[in-house]
Amino acid sequence: MKGPLTVLVVDDNAEFRAGLKRLLQAEPLVGQILEAEDGLRAVETASRAPVDVVLMDINMPRMDGLSATAQLTQVSPAYVIMVSVEHERDYFRRAMQVGARDFLVKPFQAEELHAALERAMASRRRASLRGGRPGRAVLFTSFQGGAGCTSLVAWLARLAASRRNEVVAVDLDIRLGNLSWYLGVETSASWAQVWVEEGDAVERLAEAAVRVDDCLRLVPAPTTLEQLADLERGGFEEEYGQAAARVLDAARGLGRLVLGDAGHALGETAPAAMHSADQILVVATPEVPAIHRLARGLELLTGHMGLPAHKVAVVLNRCDEPGGIAPRQLQEELGREFLALLPADYRLAAEACNLGRSVHQIRGRSRLTRSLISLLDAVMDGAVPPRAS
Ligand SMILES: Nc1ncnc2c1ncn2[C@@H]1O[C@H](COP(=O)(O)OP(=O)(O)O)[C@@H](O)[C@H]1O
Ligand SMILES: [Mg+2]
Repeated sequence: MKGPLTVLVVDDNAEFRAGLKRLLQAEPLVGQILEAEDGLRAVETASRAPVDVVLMDINMPRMDGLSATAQLTQVSPAYVIMVSVEHERDYFRRAMQVGARDFLVKPFQAEELHAALERAMASRRRASLRGGRPGRAVLFTSFQGGAGCTSLVAWLARLAASRRNEVVAVDLDIRLGNLSWYLGVETSASWAQVWVEEGDAVERLAEAAVRVDDCLRLVPAPTTLEQLADLERGGFEEEYGQAAARVLDAARGLGRLVLGDAGHALGETAPAAMHSADQILVVATPEVPAIHRLARGLELLTGHMGLPAHKVAVVLNRCDEPGGIAPRQLQEELGREFLALLPADYRLAAEACNLGRSVHQIRGRSRLTRSLISLLDAVMDGAVPPRAS
């Protein structure tokens, strides 16, 4: 009987391809087998035919396995397994950075191949639970401190999960992340551990994630020196942003909605992670200095950093603060509309914070809860309002 997976074997060595084909023919998970003799052919094949798994060599003429993986993962949802003689941390890490999901070292046994295919199957099953599509990644960030980024991620995550959405909250606020605290969970895990051992990034992320409730998982940020050292061992010395962006991508494999807390918009991780996100929500409050920073910050995001304007929206928190500027006036000055206006409610916010719960669980009819519900609706629609003319 034919198995469910279509596998593409990419290697410039015809003998190796033939040997691998024999192994795959004996493999119960495999149906169709395709071949390509270099990276360029591999990208062409995967963009034409539906491929589930790619076994990708690293050193090849015309286009090597790393560039091919980077291109192929843009055009195909295939699960790429790097195949290399060089059992070097370096290749593995670079392969993961360009979108590979797994790694096999030549020569390998039928059992090792089978285990890797099993992991690919598990990843496919997870994808079909999400309707075959990766989850939507929404990143919260801010140009000030204390605007409410972390609170909003925690509250929205709990709210979305209460509607039976599979939600993953990812704390990308390296060193200072406190999302676990707002969600009321204690753990020593973090996404730094994803990079320490080899294997599928999504699988590893699932291991690092902490279950908050039925439909909500949290991936805490690396904050301790030990966790930061793990990131370095994973090869991300000066590249924490890279690691964070890959984590955000991998999290899409775990849930329908991924909510990331990126902390400061110009911090170590936010700029890189922003390029991976589907939507970026900048949280601000209505005081003059904050709005000044916001205006300048938005220019940096869309101008200097080249983010598409439609991906960036602003959420005004504590919009009715006494002495704050009226939202209408702010919108005019900024030349854009806010995606949501959330009222100040210090008592409720503090209570939610102290209990590690969301405001909707404490006071379901409060104004803050109601505006949070409309924010979630906007986020789920992917609706970003157009610029005011
Ligand atoms: N709408 C609100 N009304 C009153 N207090 C709020 C509101 N939103 C957040 N807070 C409070 O603001 C403080 C800072 O929030 P936090 O989410 O940690 O900000 P950030 O992550 O942007 O630094 C917290 O004490 C939180 O309870
Ligand atoms: Mg925060």
